[in-house]
Amino acid sequence: MTSTAPAPVINLLAPASFAHGQPHDQFAWLREHDPVHWHPEPGDGPGFWAVTRYADVKAVGRDAGTFSSVPSIMIPDGAALDAGDHTMMLTMDPPRHTTYRRLVAPEFIPRAARAMRPRIEELARRIVDEVERRDGACDLVTDVAGLMPSYVIADMLGIPHEDGVALYELTEAIHAAPESQEPGAALGAILEMFNYAREVWEQRRAEPADDLATTIAFAAVDGEELDLIDFNLFFLLLVDAGGDTTRNLVAGGMDALFSHPDQRAWVTADLDARLAPAIEELLRWISPVVYMRRTATRDTTLAGTAIAAGDKVVMYYGSANRDPEAFGPTADQLVLGRAPNEHVAFGGGGPHFCLGAHIARIEIFALLRELLTRLPELRPSGPTEWLPSTFISGPKHLPVRTSG
Ligand code: HEM
Repeated sequence: MTSTAPAPVINLLAPASFAHGQPHDQFAWLREHDPVHWHPEPGDGPGFWAVTRYADVKAVGRDAGTFSSVPSIMIPDGAALDAGDHTMMLTMDPPRHTTYRRLVAPEFIPRAARAMRPRIEELARRIVDEVERRDGACDLVTDVAGLMPSYVIADMLGIPHEDGVALYELTEAIHAAPESQEPGAALGAILEMFNYAREVWEQRRAEPADDLATTIAFAAVDGEELDLIDFNLFFLLLVDAGGDTTRNLVAGGMDALFSHPDQRAWVTADLDARLAPAIEELLRWISPVVYMRRTATRDTTLAGTAIAAGDKVVMYYGSANRDPEAFGPTADQLVLGRAPNEHVAFGGGGPHFCLGAHIARIEIFALLRELLTRLPELRPSGPTEWLPSTFISGPKHLPVRTSG
């Protein structure tokens, strides 16, 4: 049935559209009326195709031959880091991408992730101990959810936890909308990250250790060792990719549980059996990565719309994850026991499918379990403030308390 609701103003590049989470009214209208929508870009950008249906998002993500990750996965071309012929594996295509991904993949496979579980559970206990000490009064984003991914990637790279936290703060400046901060703040944050990475590179080259930083510092492709720029780009990707995404899922997940007390009661009643499926539903519901862009390598069609070689094609994961064609009539409801739940929060299954998905799930499980069992009275103590980003979605601040 076609809805007769008036068309909302479509602007997927305005931070205001994301001021209270993702613009689901715009997504719903686009899915129904214009699923491959030509969206203008401000300034001299050529515009892009906004892809909002589940099936189309999957089709684009899985066809790297037609929809390339070069030169950038962000909408503005200027967002691509200009590092000569060096690039992040996130903005490579197969077969080069495959070679680079293989260098680090062993550290992320399910077996490696499972081996990290006891350590991650210990970190979750420590983070929640600190919250208990403050009688639950804290910012769930910075004091709880943000710490876990920073600690875990710091452990993996072999750097101190406090450095992991500081580096993670830089990723926020990298992703914030330019108008929300000082000019040049994003570039400054990237340079600071690279300066730090260079020190790590020099230390590991001089004194190899048993960590991911050493693996990358000595990695070789086609018999040629990676250089410092390759190392910096890998380092930035790893700190960046797992930080605010995981944080936003935990903080956004708790926010969703606060506003759906029946669902919170349901999952808390049997965490052993229900928390894992609940996390999949929270991933679908929140979709911390708003979009990934591709660029058409040849003239093609998508859902009947002609796309020209060179056009930008943008997959809106949050929209795909609310598509009734894929999730039925309850697509816009939070149903923690949903099964099956083939969401695309980690990507639609193409070659760039989230490398950290197994680790992320373990981090999220450990932290939510601690929060839900040890702080059953936890509740908001002020309004949730959302990130001013059109790329990464989640709360920026979520004040909570357990008493009073
Ligand atoms: C809730 C948490 C997370 C979400 C929602 C998420 C989501 C995503 C998405 C959507 C992509 C792109 C998929 C595609 O283009 O097909 C991606 C790629 C990636 N993610 Fe995650 N991610 C999360 C956590 C993590 C963590 C914890 C790590 C590392 C420890 C990580 C590392 C990566 C890397 C390295 C890539 C690039 C893979 C490639 O280019 O081959 N992610 N992630």
